[in-house]
Amino acid sequence: MTIVATIPLESINRADVSPLPPRGSSLGRLNAICPYYTMFPLDFPGRILADAHDNDWVLDPFCGRGTTLFAARLRGLGSVGIDINPVAAALASAKLASATADDVTSLCEQILGSGPEAEQPQGDFWELAYHPNTLADLAKLRRALMRMADDSTTVLLRAIVLGILHGPLRKGAPTYLSNQMPRTYASKPDSAVRFWHSRGMKPPEVDTLDAVRRRARFTLAEIPTQAPGCVRAADAAAEIPSLDRRFQWIITSPPYYGMRTYSPDQWLRSWFLGSDPLATYRVPGHLQHRGLERFAEGLADVWRAAAARCVEGARLVVRFGALPSVGNDPMKLLMRSLELANAGWTVYSIVTAGEPSEWSRQATQFSTPGGYVEEIDCYARLDA
Ligand SMILES: C[S@@+](CC[C@H](N)C(=O)[O-])C[C@H]1O[C@@H](n2cnc3c(N)ncnc32)[C@H](O)[C@@H]1O
Repeated sequence: MTIVATIPLESINRADVSPLPPRGSSLGRLNAICPYYTMFPLDFPGRILADAHDNDWVLDPFCGRGTTLFAARLRGLGSVGIDINPVAAALASAKLASATADDVTSLCEQILGSGPEAEQPQGDFWELAYHPNTLADLAKLRRALMRMADDSTTVLLRAIVLGILHGPLRKGAPTYLSNQMPRTYASKPDSAVRFWHSRGMKPPEVDTLDAVRRRARFTLAEIPTQAPGCVRAADAAAEIPSLDRRFQWIITSPPYYGMRTYSPDQWLRSWFLGSDPLATYRVPGHLQHRGLERFAEGLADVWRAAAARCVEGARLVVRFGALPSVGNDPMKLLMRSLELANAGWTVYSIVTAGEPSEWSRQATQFSTPGGYVEEIDCYARLDA
């Protein structure tokens, strides 16, 4: 494995060629439909795709909430996303969907107004997390959305509810359906109950339909022109061989070494999608963190499968990092994975993502007293 050249970050990520809407523009709101713990900033894939040609296709094999797919859509390009976590896949699917706020609200109204009550989860957590009326609405929406075919309106209603399922209490009309909670990840049930008890916090009474309507109007005020694509909830290495097209771009960010909580942190959103109302602390197929070599081999399988679906000259761009607590070098680990893949990827640049000065950097989400995770951006090309 050779690094052909190392060039500074500024010469690759040029803001002046980004096809992205200006920050704050309503066109970018769909991308923020729901947070996801380790999303990367839209500018990252956006600036890279400024160099794409009109009929190029983009693959993100670890797509998370679908930031790469949204950047591809803004650029008018087709894209495919894969993620093992159903929450990520549900959010990423919304990045490719198109429906009006009225369509989404009507669907919500129709579901809430029809059929018998749905079975609700029981226990302290649920009693303190949601007002009884809100929990009844959520259970109904959950049951209906689990049974419905995935058209654009359904996909967007599902993602909107995931986005307002939990978050901080606000003054005025509530944005979120839950008692006080972070919006990025769901608290563990026992610690959430202790927190609410100790502060005497009661769940707010929220008009679910009104909360969905307000959120849909905001998020879908302006959406980008539709672009082709799909999302699969699957293991990337196993799924890529079944894709029936060739790609010019792979832009992705695999799980950071040492980061194991993508699924447990999303346990409440997983429940809404149909899983048991319990925190899931191990997702079968999630890239394992049982030693560096095993991890590198898992990544190598993805790079090899992806190379077989790419055209010659395709670009692979990887943002990768490691938590400070595991103390390893993300560059060495990524290079090892490309070496093990032995699939024709030639690295032409590796740059550090620098100091965590920008609010939007993924690393800032791992902030610990021990410092920030180290992140690198690796650029490679597929040679014959
Ligand atoms: C760093 S996050 C990607 C975040 C994404 N760039 C975004 O902006 O939202 C890594 C993702 O890899 C997914 N993942 C882990 N193991 C996987 C596997 N074997 N196949 C596909 N996805 C996997 C995790 O569920 C997680 O969503």
